[in-house]
Amino acid sequence: MKNTQEFLKSTEKARKEIELRLLELIPESPRSLYDPIRLTIQSGGKRLRPVLTYLSSLSNPSANWLPAACAVELLHTFTLVHDDIMDNADTRRGNPTLHTKYDINTAILAGDAIIALAEESLSSGGYELAGEMSKEFAFGFRCVCEGQAYDKEFELRNDVTTKEYFRMIDLKSAKMLELAATLGTCSAGGEYVEVVREFAHHTGIAFQIRDDLLDLIADEASFGKKIGGDVLEGKRTFLFLSAMEMFDVIDEHDQEMLLRIRDRKATSHDIAHAKKSFAKHGIIDKAMKAIEDETITARNSISGIGSEGLRIGLDRFSDYLLGRTY
Ligand code: IPE
Ligand code: IPE
Ligand code: MG
Ligand code: MG
Ligand code: MG
Repeated sequence: MKNTQEFLKSTEKARKEIELRLLELIPESPRSLYDPIRLTIQSGGKRLRPVLTYLSSLSNPSANWLPAACAVELLHTFTLVHDDIMDNADTRRGNPTLHTKYDINTAILAGDAIIALAEESLSSGGYELAGEMSKEFAFGFRCVCEGQAYDKEFELRNDVTTKEYFRMIDLKSAKMLELAATLGTCSAGGEYVEVVREFAHHTGIAFQIRDDLLDLIADEASFGKKIGGDVLEGKRTFLFLSAMEMFDVIDEHDQEMLLRIRDRKATSHDIAHAKKSFAKHGIIDKAMKAIEDETITARNSISGIGSEGLRIGLDRFSDYLLGRTY
């Protein structure tokens, strides 16, 4: 709790700047395009990625981190809008998802325009390393698409391995944190870019395992997404794959529940059942341990950074994520 407050306080000014700039970047008309985008941006969100861009620039206090930070948050927002269509999700950030509030066409087009706004923001930064930054942006963007492709492909496969899961979450989630961090270091001149990338990679893996965990155990009101969406959609999450590894030693009732998830036949009754069964078999603890291990690796990777401001900022970020409940 103390760490959370410290983190929020030390990043408050940056977050305010991010909120303001994001809204400034959205044009007025056509309203059918920009009103839904504005609503999505205004619906909140933790702003983790743009804050990571800011923190990653701290080796140089005069770095122009804001255009890059907004580019990352916009790219992330695009992934959420399209992800919610792909995952049949009705709720995001405590509100109806864009495609449920409007329609699928509006959401597809909004997503497309958000990417354009992201690119405009990045190119407005006038960066010395503009070429490298635009390459990082395109790479991060492509990786998310590849990760999302695996995520959907895996729903239809019964032989997904843990190794494949880790590759998928690296692409769909960790690469976006890596992008946030590398753009921040690039905006500060490019020193430390590889260690900061390594930090963001492990932090991103921990982040997605936590997201899988929270999807089952979070409090719905603060999480802002419907609990159990992954169970209903038959997602090959850290929890599901870990449970499948124990298939032969669990009772028949639990086995049947797992098979319903696997075959995408799970119903809302299976959500509470999965939560109980995963806790009973130590799978929740296993996920927490994996999150902790990745976080330790992330923090070790930055322990040698010479810039104290940068190191402390990133340390605080990983501490904050470790304690997150939504
Ligand atoms: C959700 O990310 C998408 C994932 C990669 C799990 P966040 O949990 O950062 O979502 P917001 O931006 O705070 O709503
Ligand atoms: C996140 O995966 C990956 C994205 C590119 C958004 P999820 O599908 O688990 O994200 P949430 O849980 O809907 O936010
Ligand atoms: Mg998804
Ligand atoms: Mg989703
Ligand atoms: Mg999720």
